[in-house]
Amino acid sequence: MGALVSTGALANEAFFQAEVLDAVVAPKAPTTPTDPAWNTVPGRNFSVSAQRTVHLHDRTANAVLTQPARSRVLVKAIAGAETVAIFLEWDDPAREVVREDESNAFADSVALEVPQVFGAGKRLPAISMGDDDAFVKVTLLRATQGGALATHFAAAGFGSLTRQAPAVPDATSLSWDETKKHWSAVFTLPRSSVQGLTPLAFATWDGGRKERAGYKRLSSWHYVRVPGLPLDAQYVKELAYGYAPGDLGDAAQGQALAESVCVACHQLPGKAFAPAGIAPNLQNIGAIAVASYLRDSIITPSLVIIHEPNPNQHYMPSAPKDPNGAAPNADAFRWSSVGADGKRVSKMPPFTNFTPGQIADLVAFLKTLDGQPRENN
Ligand code: HEC
Repeated sequence: MGALVSTGALANEAFFQAEVLDAVVAPKAPTTPTDPAWNTVPGRNFSVSAQRTVHLHDRTANAVLTQPARSRVLVKAIAGAETVAIFLEWDDPAREVVREDESNAFADSVALEVPQVFGAGKRLPAISMGDDDAFVKVTLLRATQGGALATHFAAAGFGSLTRQAPAVPDATSLSWDETKKHWSAVFTLPRSSVQGLTPLAFATWDGGRKERAGYKRLSSWHYVRVPGLPLDAQYVKELAYGYAPGDLGDAAQGQALAESVCVACHQLPGKAFAPAGIAPNLQNIGAIAVASYLRDSIITPSLVIIHEPNPNQHYMPSAPKDPNGAAPNADAFRWSSVGADGKRVSKMPPFTNFTPGQIADLVAFLKTLDGQPRENN
């Protein structure tokens, strides 16, 4: 007879297995990906999936980027006394570097994203560079002819980057392996910014596929655990939503519901009735969004309002011009409006009439959307 295990413990186990990377503790964390210390550190593979929401005025890039793209990033962590080093390694067919002053060319790049604040009672920022109420810190490394060019940002949604001084100066590095055709990088976080379980997400850009800016491959939130630091049970419980038995419902039921209700605005795999751009494309939302975010998106859409990446694209040439002579934007392509209290309100209605079971079904379905082509399409 096995001992009774509480649902909470079961949930945590599945969550830790799926999402958590254990750091190895060492006196000093390495600062380069070629440091032999990494050879003995176990890593985990996490997937990154092409971001679909952004469209640029570049037909070739748009065409390439609508093809499914999903790859893996190997992640390792070493926690030293002063800093925590995060190692990332990913395949790339060819090395694309640019000159340091070329801002419009396509360089292979990588970024690490960490929430500005996190812990019990604080929801995770939206994965695409944070949101109005939950900022992220981003470090971007671009491959240039002179080596890695690092920039540090605070961000609150697409197009809202504010440059910042690095938390740990000059401690980021990038390395290309021509034989194995992969990049590796090290990001350095101050030890003081890390807790028992620190959320992190990463993005890669393949210059050869013209990936740049919002066009990237993005991971979901994952977590690095530093042994010896305390874990807050309530915080773990919040993060682990989706992994306890009964958290998620029936994906087939959820699909039926989504295909009757949500397709009015969102494009779903094989169900692209809504005009592109009137709401985010949900084709790979399951690969980049955590279950609690999907649940909250359905119950309280205005909690996190995703910025429309390009509202100006949908202007109405025949409508009366504004005082500057510009044609107005089509309101259908705006994702939010401003309420009487000055706060932004999502155009998505809160689905308060759904039962908890229906919400759980919808979340289960959305979690299956990984951006890969499906057989029944
Ligand atoms: C009236 C149009 C409309 C309908 C119907 C609608 N949505 Fe939305 N949805 C939006 C808009 C606009 C946004 C972007 C603004 C925001 O973040 O709330 C959005 C955002 C989302 C997001 C966040 C996407 C991201 O990229 O982070 C999810 C998840 C979502 N909707 C799920 C659903 C589901 C599930 C349904 C059906 C039950 C649904 N929506 C029905 C318009 C709609």
